[in-house]
Amino acid sequence: MLVTGGTGLVGSHLLFELLRAGYPVRAIRRKSSQLELVKKLFLWYDPSSGESLFKKIEWVEADVLDLPSLQEAIRGVRAVFHCAAMVSFLPADREQMMKVNVEGTANLVNVALAEGIEKFCYCSSVATIGQPEPGHPATENLIWKTSPANSGYSISKFGAEREVWRGSEEGLPVVMVNPSIIIGPGDTSRSSAQLYQSVKNGLKFYTKGVTGFVDARDVALALRLLYESPVVHERFIMSSENIQYRKVFEYFAQYAGVQPPKYFAGPFLSEMAWRLEKLRRLFTGRKPLITRETARNANNVRYFSSEKILKTLDFSFRPLEEAAKNTAGFYKQYPEIL
Ligand SMILES: NC(=O)c1ccc[n+]([C@@H]2O[C@H](COP(=O)([O-])OP(=O)(O)OC[C@H]3O[C@@H](n4cnc5c(N)ncnc54)[C@H](OP(=O)(O)O)[C@@H]3O)[C@@H](O)[C@H]2O)c1
Repeated sequence: MLVTGGTGLVGSHLLFELLRAGYPVRAIRRKSSQLELVKKLFLWYDPSSGESLFKKIEWVEADVLDLPSLQEAIRGVRAVFHCAAMVSFLPADREQMMKVNVEGTANLVNVALAEGIEKFCYCSSVATIGQPEPGHPATENLIWKTSPANSGYSISKFGAEREVWRGSEEGLPVVMVNPSIIIGPGDTSRSSAQLYQSVKNGLKFYTKGVTGFVDARDVALALRLLYESPVVHERFIMSSENIQYRKVFEYFAQYAGVQPPKYFAGPFLSEMAWRLEKLRRLFTGRKPLITRETARNANNVRYFSSEKILKTLDFSFRPLEEAAKNTAGFYKQYPEIL
């Protein structure tokens, strides 16, 4: 097995899932990648054998934008799990994110085709699912459409998914998951792991926005089960519960032992907030806490249906409260990560 993004939120959970199931695993890393957090995650989930499982990972240096390194990394493997990507809503990251997500995925699809890979398992996102009729949940059949409301992240993930479907047309057996917001322990400076950090740091505002959330362990498990199943050329929404952001913040606050956000920020206040953050960035150079895209997402109401995965696999989702408890527990055990 080859796993990309193994140092990230999804990839680290997937490494644990695959190794625990007894698969030999090779994972790509970059020179700058931090492996310590992956090791801590293994120890968190399995204090007695976590370290020995972690030592079984064959790390190879590669970058999804460096084709020769990928050709080297993929040699001799049967399956690829592609979880590497940039997850960002910062306008400054947009160009690089398009490159990593679209070109990086195209590179991986091309080396997988050349190597005759048995199955290409891809971690996409609900960001590539089209809009349902108002009041209805989104399903896998909804086609993503170009719109000024699409975030740069969504555009990049759609481009990446298109590369995977192109690979499928060219004969690569592919399967993919489309998770909603993933909750789990990870590097709190990036991706959705930042949500916990902001609550822990005393986030004051909440919105009435609703979306889907899913436990990182469930995404990893579904990827393994889909690999083991005969299913190919299908995508599956992975979303445990459709709930208000506010509720997730309350779960985090409860298990982190801090106050939950208590002031309501409607669309007007959110619009003000991202503009103020932009100004703050100009003066301080610090990464904004909220951007135009995150402010608008936080006020949207979107529901996702996971019926397809539930019907296809023998699967049940962990409740969100358990995901929040697991996340908070990890950071309590390893406070230096925060
Ligand atoms: N988190 C969510 O809520 C969420 C929801 C739906 C879908 N997804 C999707 O799930 C996948 C994983 O996301 P995540 O949350 O795990 O992200 P993450 O925690 O930010 O991890 C990103 C991973 O990608 C790697 N990476 C980035 N650029 C790379 C490059 N040029 N070459 C090789 N590796 C590179 C990173 O490696 P380094 O350690 O070297 O930086 C890291 O391992 C992504 O496809 C994302 O779109 C995420």
